[in-house]
Amino acid sequence: MKSKVTVVGAGNVGATAAQRIVEKGFADVVLVDVVEGMPQGKALDLLESGPVLGYDSQIIGANTYDETADSDLVVITAGIARRPGMSRDDLLKTNMGIMNSVIEEVVSRSPNSILMIVSNPLDAMAHLAFKKSGFPRERVVGMAGVLDTARMRTFIAQELNVSVEDVQAYVLGGHGDTMVPLVRYTTVGGFPLASLLSQDRIDAIVQRTRDGGGEIVNLLKTGSAFYAPAAAILQMTESILLDKKRILPCAAYLEGEYGVDGLLVGVPVKLGAAGIEQIIEIELDNEEKSQLSGSVEAVQELVDAMDSL
Ligand code: NAI
Ligand code: 2OP
Repeated sequence: MKSKVTVVGAGNVGATAAQRIVEKGFADVVLVDVVEGMPQGKALDLLESGPVLGYDSQIIGANTYDETADSDLVVITAGIARRPGMSRDDLLKTNMGIMNSVIEEVVSRSPNSILMIVSNPLDAMAHLAFKKSGFPRERVVGMAGVLDTARMRTFIAQELNVSVEDVQAYVLGGHGDTMVPLVRYTTVGGFPLASLLSQDRIDAIVQRTRDGGGEIVNLLKTGSAFYAPAAAILQMTESILLDKKRILPCAAYLEGEYGVDGLLVGVPVKLGAAGIEQIIEIELDNEEKSQLSGSVEAVQELVDAMDSL
């Protein structure tokens, strides 16, 4: 039997993620949105692509949640996206209200599901989803690190004119300006990045990675990135539903790991059928620790801001 995935929010990220998932053929999808007819229309359009592309996954659209019952995975992309000049944090209040209502709807119908949170501000929304759902920490994961890492890998591959497949990198911390690209653990064809690029060029790539979301917003002008975010969602979905146990940077609720207690922060995790099956603790030097603690502080500020709204 195929797995069942609910994608909440049928906008740019949600619809593209749904497309990527059904095209792989291992899961059926329910696409939910508040806009009448829109998720149904996109779902039908995707279903009608199956005969041409050769996939037979089912996909339906809905404005309510009964069809989502017993999902294995629920991907939440509902919310408003950033516009030029808008910070991720500006989104906090509106998306809090949306996240609260979505969690209520999905958790009662899919009590054993894994929640993948995508809506921004990511770390705060993932925290809210974790607390509101009452799910164990293994079953609430935030998507950001895979995307931020993909951006860093892209910029390195461009700079060195090598295949992206040979670039390994990790971006930890919150999904914001304080994210922590781990240069020391970044390799190209197995060799440390620092042995192949000058410090100036590395610094420029790190900064471009931190600004990666804003760079796309400034180009698109009417919304934010969705192709790479949907690709990141697919990679995490495959790791969970196909029990691949990939080691990926994801937002996970920490209980003492990395010296953090009671906050969701981007760290390397093992993602499998049970969700977050392991939090991988790697050794950080003093500079990396200090950057991570700056990022954790920024996440904590957002979580505190939610409490005061
Ligand atoms: P979008 O505006 O294209 O789509 C959002 C959809 O959510 C809209 O179709 C809207 O009708 C729907 N929606 C609003 N309230 C809803 C509710 N209560 N229930 C169900 N659906 C509802 O935005 P886009 O580009 O798809 O982005 C979605 C979210 O993902 C944004 O918050 C964005 O900032 C975030 N994002 C996060 C990334 C990450 O790395 N974590 C990467 C890219 C986007
Ligand atoms: C991004 O990084 C908007 O968070 C989104 O593209």
